[in-house]
Amino acid sequence: MSARNLPPVWSKIAKHAVFPETTHDERARYNFLANLNKHLAHVSQGNKIAFDKRVEPKFEKEHGRKMKDTSELKKAMEKDPHYQVWSSLRRSTMEMRQQAGRSIVLRQADNLKEKAEKLNEGKASLVLDADCEVPNYLLACDNHIMPGSYHTELIDGDVTPAANYDTGLFVTTAGLLGTYSDGGGKAITSWVKKTYPDFKPKRILDIGCGMGHNVLPIAKAFPDAEVIGIDTAAPMLRYAHARAMDLGYTNVKFMQMDAAKTIFEDESFDWVQSTMFFHETGGKSIYKIMDEVYRVLKPGGLTLHIEQPQYTDDMSLFEKFIRDWDALNNNEPYWSKMHDIEPVDLMHASGFKKEDFMQIGAKAENDLDDGSNKAEEPEDHGRSPIWNVFGAIKN
Ligand SMILES: C[S@@+](CC[C@H](N)C(=O)[O-])C[C@H]1O[C@@H](n2cnc3c(N)ncnc32)[C@H](O)[C@@H]1O
Repeated sequence: MSARNLPPVWSKIAKHAVFPETTHDERARYNFLANLNKHLAHVSQGNKIAFDKRVEPKFEKEHGRKMKDTSELKKAMEKDPHYQVWSSLRRSTMEMRQQAGRSIVLRQADNLKEKAEKLNEGKASLVLDADCEVPNYLLACDNHIMPGSYHTELIDGDVTPAANYDTGLFVTTAGLLGTYSDGGGKAITSWVKKTYPDFKPKRILDIGCGMGHNVLPIAKAFPDAEVIGIDTAAPMLRYAHARAMDLGYTNVKFMQMDAAKTIFEDESFDWVQSTMFFHETGGKSIYKIMDEVYRVLKPGGLTLHIEQPQYTDDMSLFEKFIRDWDALNNNEPYWSKMHDIEPVDLMHASGFKKEDFMQIGAKAENDLDDGSNKAEEPEDHGRSPIWNVFGAIKN
């Protein structure tokens, strides 16, 4: 068996004034889960072997033909013992992560709220709107099995959904997003700086900013720009703002607003960004949000969207099936639809010209990777911090 890289220890995660307190046992639990997730990425490789050696030959023998689609493949794979073990363990790691995270943050909910309030009080850079409605697609399920999802408030001024997210993200990604979990934001910032060295955005909008971790590298790289993160979930924004204040950011603002109907003027941003956002939006909202991106973007402005890898026509049924695991088993119901949409068509429907469309690959910039982990990493479908970025310059 080849050498395996271990994930970095959870304690490496960056602390800040609203970061929850943890006990020895809670940290041990998170470390166990990060290691289990990493191990499962290796176990996952056996799914392809099970498919090639057992599942597909059996199906073809029984039916006298090849499988037609992913739903036939799913039915057949779900009877396979290797897949059953891997899938139930993967689901369990997510449930355990959420339970571990919630037990950390709920016992200190009042304390976390007070810490956030201290940093947020009287600041014009946090704008909450009690009339902002959480879209139905978000109310319909608890995203990635996170109880209460992003928006639920158990106490007035609650920040626990974001605090849970902040401590737990490291576990699911086995630390591959870096100390501040901002490997995506860093990667896109570096790409923009390198590709457009003369680009000097004055106003930048991040839609579905969550706890703001991926927008901060952008704000840091463009200190003269006004950077606005929007989200419909007040707990995420309270935490995002307090975190950014404590980390010393002065050019970011967080506003509660639906990305499908923002209050911003036409053509008022130089850059509209989203990170791991579109796959959590449902139905027609995807199109409405892209219409809004087009509307608020200045002519000559840039828009980029970091997403999971797209499905392509030449992708095997097996790969599509395994990449859909989260949609079927991890409360990500909109994930498959997003992957079936052609980003170029989505953008074109909102007014972007097809010839201005761009698509690039991005890999998280991980400051926890010191190069000492040399063993080859298996592709962990839906978990590896390797993404598809699509976007355009508006002309
Ligand atoms: C997976 S999180 C992504 C957070 C962050 N961008 C990141 O880098 O990880 C998706 C976020 O989008 C928010 N969201 C979903 N639909 C939205 C909408 N229509 N308008 C604004 N925010 C939305 C959710 O509340 C959640 O915080």
